[in-house]
Amino acid sequence: MQGVRNLLVTGGAGFIGSNFVQFVLETTDCSVTVLDKLTYAGNKASLAGLDPNRCRLVVGDIADADAVHPLVGEADAVVHYAAESHNDNSLHDPKPFIDTNILGTYTLLEAVRKYGKRYHHISTDEVYGDLELDDPERFTEATPYNPSSPYSSTKAASDLLVRAWVRSFGVQATISNCSNNYGPYQHVEKFIPRQITNVLDGIRPKLYGAGANVRDWIHANDHSDAVWTILQKGTIGETYLIGADGEKSNKEVVELILSLMGQPSDAYDQVVDRVGHDLRYAIDSSKLRTELAWSPRYSDFEHGISETIRWYEENEPWWRPQKAAAEQRYVELGQ
Ligand code: NAD
Ligand code: DAU
Repeated sequence: MQGVRNLLVTGGAGFIGSNFVQFVLETTDCSVTVLDKLTYAGNKASLAGLDPNRCRLVVGDIADADAVHPLVGEADAVVHYAAESHNDNSLHDPKPFIDTNILGTYTLLEAVRKYGKRYHHISTDEVYGDLELDDPERFTEATPYNPSSPYSSTKAASDLLVRAWVRSFGVQATISNCSNNYGPYQHVEKFIPRQITNVLDGIRPKLYGAGANVRDWIHANDHSDAVWTILQKGTIGETYLIGADGEKSNKEVVELILSLMGQPSDAYDQVVDRVGHDLRYAIDSSKLRTELAWSPRYSDFEHGISETIRWYEENEPWWRPQKAAAEQRYVELGQ
């Protein structure tokens, strides 16, 4: 899409949103307005140091039409990251997931429809459910939706709203479904930062069940680059899967973190498994690679994890305020 000067990025104070905002400021001359509610997962510090002439934070709720409409009206395009994003929380209390992921997306869609603005919808591979460990197939854009958790079902619902608003109202939207992200600024409730900060605190990493579950890891910078590519070159109405061929079992990931941090690779605890735990995610991103000429740059997972460990070692003031509360929630869940 030519001529994007002002972007509205929802959820830009969260993990992937803040990485995207930094990517846009570093690699383009666009200005960004971030609309973020600053829930427990949002952190103003993730936007610290960015040029105030090009990046503005508006604290507000995407489900609040009065907050959303003027911001959509003044933007050239909207990239929608804001969500309740954590599966374990959704199993404990699904309601915020309905409010933000479904009603929030509906509110944004009505605004982009009214103002005729380009919209890119950020979603997840979890809408497709899971795969067997030995399934030779991976998820493609044609895989039927089959979400497992309250989180993934609300993301699936939001994707379907976007499809309907494209077809019924001509909204200029694209959708991307990405695999598991890692990198800097990820909340310590999530698997990789939880284990890194546990080791830094002298606590043993916690593996759900036997750790056989497989996730398809991608660095957050590669996700940002893919989203920017879709915004520039994607076909309206199309869905693109984003992935970097990064399949690893959780056990492999914990062992790698431990060995990179100078610990015995078996120095972890097995804890209660997640209810309805998806077994394996795997993305076939051929469409994005062949049609839009995108490819990931972080091909060395061990190197990416080493950099991520260093980031958490060097940025304790960023994560420390969240750590005790995140671990307390896990105590309540027995994990
Ligand atoms: P996150 O939890 O780190 O950040 C979410 C952000 O949204 C926070 O800053 C939070 O304050 C904000 N937010 C929540 N509710 C809001 C509301 N009602 N109004 C405005 N802001 C609100 O999440 P993340 O991991 O960065 O995920 C971002 C997006 O990417 C989500 O849509 C998620 O489904 C999707 N996604 C995540 C991954 C992953 O591996 N983390 C993979 C694929 C897709
Ligand atoms: O696939 C994309 C999805 O990836 C995104 O849509 C979600 O927003 C994002 O949170 C992530 O979902 P997962 O549930 O896969 O991520 P999480 O970091 O919670 O867990 C990754 C795997 O690690 C999963 O199999 C559960 C396991 N796990 C998690 C934690 C927190 C553990 O074994 N121990 C833990 O302490």
